[in-house]
Amino acid sequence: MAKLKTTFFCQSCGNQFAKWQGQCTVCKAWNTIVEEVLQKPEKSDWKTPTSTKKRAAVPLRINDIDSTKEARLDTFDGELNRVLGGGIVPGSLTLLGGEPGIGKSTLMLQISLKLPYKTLYVSGEESQKQIKMRAERINPSNSNCYILTETKTQNIFKQIENLEPDIVIIDSIQTLHSDYIEASAGSISQIKECTTELIKFAKETSTPVLLIGHITKDGHIAGPKILEHMVDTVLQFEGDRNHVFRILRAHKNRFGSTNELGIYEMQGSGLREVSNPSELLISQKDEELSGNAIAATLEGMRPLMIEVQALVSTAVYGTPQRSATGFNAKRLNMLLAVLEKRAGFKLGAKDVFLNITGGITVDDPAIDLAVVAAILSSNEDMALQKDFCFAAEVGLSGEIRPVQRVEQRILEAEKLGFSTIFVSKYNKISLKNTTIKIQLISKIEDLVGFVV
Ligand code: TYD
Ligand code: MG
Repeated sequence: MAKLKTTFFCQSCGNQFAKWQGQCTVCKAWNTIVEEVLQKPEKSDWKTPTSTKKRAAVPLRINDIDSTKEARLDTFDGELNRVLGGGIVPGSLTLLGGEPGIGKSTLMLQISLKLPYKTLYVSGEESQKQIKMRAERINPSNSNCYILTETKTQNIFKQIENLEPDIVIIDSIQTLHSDYIEASAGSISQIKECTTELIKFAKETSTPVLLIGHITKDGHIAGPKILEHMVDTVLQFEGDRNHVFRILRAHKNRFGSTNELGIYEMQGSGLREVSNPSELLISQKDEELSGNAIAATLEGMRPLMIEVQALVSTAVYGTPQRSATGFNAKRLNMLLAVLEKRAGFKLGAKDVFLNITGGITVDDPAIDLAVVAAILSSNEDMALQKDFCFAAEVGLSGEIRPVQRVEQRILEAEKLGFSTIFVSKYNKISLKNTTIKIQLISKIEDLVGFVV
């Protein structure tokens, strides 16, 4: 038997080395280099099913290239269409990453059941029966949806050749393996090889391919970074598993903006599109409670009204506790210091807890003012008026800073029936005929007068 050919890969950046070393010389990561068995195929048996359709490329003058927009495939899912920038581009590779159990397989199966085209769902993780059971929960049935449980790319291509699907879904890229490489499934060289084969297939036949990808402990897509470079679009499915909301974001999109965001709700019968998230994120209650404030934030291009809850109480132990869920803890400490210094609140001996409801994480700085208002309200134990909302950043000297797209936030607040929105005096607002009161403030002290 011929000697096995092995090579060394950095698990972090995917670079290849001839021998083992402790540190990757390219990305400088330590202990990431692993040995993998590699067997290059004989040139003669290198064949993908589509190789006959290949044409040699010739350079074209840019002005001569046909620029008529390629028709995108409607996914029949408003949220996914929005995130992708209007639908799936033919021949594109889309990678969907996310924590285990977040609903990646559910989303993809749901899409393939909804589409009126011939879809092929390839699963390396579940049996056909299991997928059928899941499909029965989701329900909308597409009689042209085919399920294949297979992990070998060569076999998958053989089936694709027979079936000629309009769209291929792979669950997941980490379970695939190609005959041309001997390393085990999920290893860097396998992921690289299988993705290359899939890209070749997608580009040559203009069939879009959707891949599901596992993520590592620290939240990156498992496998080499190069995987994210190779595909056209990287989507991330996130959200707190214990909450009902799931957020779909684009981290990379060659055909659209990465600012868009899709929101779903996990129900007993699959994922439901949430087209008006603000109404769901704000808890409907009759009483006014202290410590609650509503922020008019923007998630990507979408205005989103979010409820901020704060609890300020006397510290039982020596060192006061500060904890924040869905908000940066360092930023909370900064805001507390500003409140202490500029508004004279003695928060040094108090525990402060902050929570963004709905299990979502916000990094829009415009939430600052609502955080401050919630803390002030809880500290004084006085409820804010239920129909107040806030959209401004707070600076270190206690100044209220302008935020981007303030008009969009104001209109959303108005639409949802808020009576007053607090924004920075330095925001340029040219809205006319609004029924909502726009309260301009410039310093944190100005806010104190309104809320306590
Ligand atoms: P799944 O799609 O298997 O997650 P992933 O592929 O990302 O690992 O989602 C699994 C979770 O979704 C599971 O905990 C059950 C839940 N779920 C529902 O609540 N309703 C449903 O209709 C389905 C299909 C799943
Ligand atoms: Mg899954």
